[in-house]
Amino acid sequence: PPMENLLNLDEIEEVATKQVNKKAWAYYWSASDDKFSKQFNNEVYRSILLRPRVFRDCERCDLTSTVLGHKLGMPIYVAPAAMARLGHPDGEAGIAEACRGFGAMQIISNNASMTPEQIVKDASPDQVFGWQLYAQIDRKKSEAMLARINKLNAIKFIVLTLDAPVPGKREDDERNSMEGAAAPVPSGIKEAEKSDTPDVSQASGGVGRSLFAGTDPTLTWRETLPWLAKHTDLPIVLKGLQTHEDAYLASLHTPQVKGIILSNHGGRALDSAPPAVHTLLEIRKYCPEVFDKLEVYVDGGIRRGTDIVKALCLGAKAVGIGRAALWGLGAGGVDGVRRTLQILSDESKTCMRLLGVETVDGLGPEYINTRMAEQQ
Ligand code: FNR
Repeated sequence: PPMENLLNLDEIEEVATKQVNKKAWAYYWSASDDKFSKQFNNEVYRSILLRPRVFRDCERCDLTSTVLGHKLGMPIYVAPAAMARLGHPDGEAGIAEACRGFGAMQIISNNASMTPEQIVKDASPDQVFGWQLYAQIDRKKSEAMLARINKLNAIKFIVLTLDAPVPGKREDDERNSMEGAAAPVPSGIKEAEKSDTPDVSQASGGVGRSLFAGTDPTLTWRETLPWLAKHTDLPIVLKGLQTHEDAYLASLHTPQVKGIILSNHGGRALDSAPPAVHTLLEIRKYCPEVFDKLEVYVDGGIRRGTDIVKALCLGAKAVGIGRAALWGLGAGGVDGVRRTLQILSDESKTCMRLLGVETVDGLGPEYINTRMAEQQ
């Protein structure tokens, strides 16, 4: 269907579900165990109410914001997600193309299905990328990747993912991984230039499980941060923090660590882990100084502009979408991701104008009521 006919992210997911092969669907859709965390990730936004102000000029609305000193057209990042070409041949480069038009940021996964060089090849001068690392048991492999990343001007920071030292138990992925075709190689990409992502075409324990094969489960504050800082001068962002204690610990590691992503990996790691909003509320309560020391980003369960605005009001500098970007890609390649971003942009603007706020910086806790969320 024409992408303009799709009015919200649920409708895009519905189309993508019909179009992608079963293996891609199962890998993207899956979450751990009983998927409690995946479900809470979105439901939590229902328990946060908005407090709109009236009698305010809301003719204009400006979504521009900054991340680590870089200007964004909207406070949104596409979260690192492996294997975009499993869903559509446009792959991660297609996501990059869509982000370019909106000034959205993209974090490239360690397990992307295209090389970082291919993904940033047509980057505009002001386009912002991060690169996500799963530190490998064979550290030399990670060091070689970091050396490549350090040379790419478009990549502005390194994201180290910490919430999945081992993969969660994703039964849908395990069940469906043998079905459906392997990721197609887009035309124009020679075999030799393919990414070094593990081959998941015969992933009998699930795509997720085979991608995790070389990931190092022994990471620690003491050992891993100095190792990483030795191999890159780029700012470091820690992903997958889920408690105020860990947010506070991260704030002790400035200046190398410049940001944290509150995330439960889209419910794909530990089931019953809290949604990022709960962690945001904890940080506000127990160690609000973290917001002065680090930039805080959140992802998980974002489906509406109101979800984005609520997270920004609670102190997030940017908000991430994981599956939503993959469903956009699956529904219509580059155009599908564009449609996803357009809907989120339009909905966020409408929400802000109805709240009586013209700029992202103008959003704050005075625009939300978290009483229901705090009782949970
Ligand atoms: C992910 N996620 C993820 N995170 C990461 O740090 N490295 C990775 O390679 C991946 N891979 C990945 C694949 C797929 C298919 C999904 C759905 C997710 C987690 C991702 O970055 C993000 O935290 C969640 O996807 C956010 O939740 P939503 O938006 O999918 O609900």
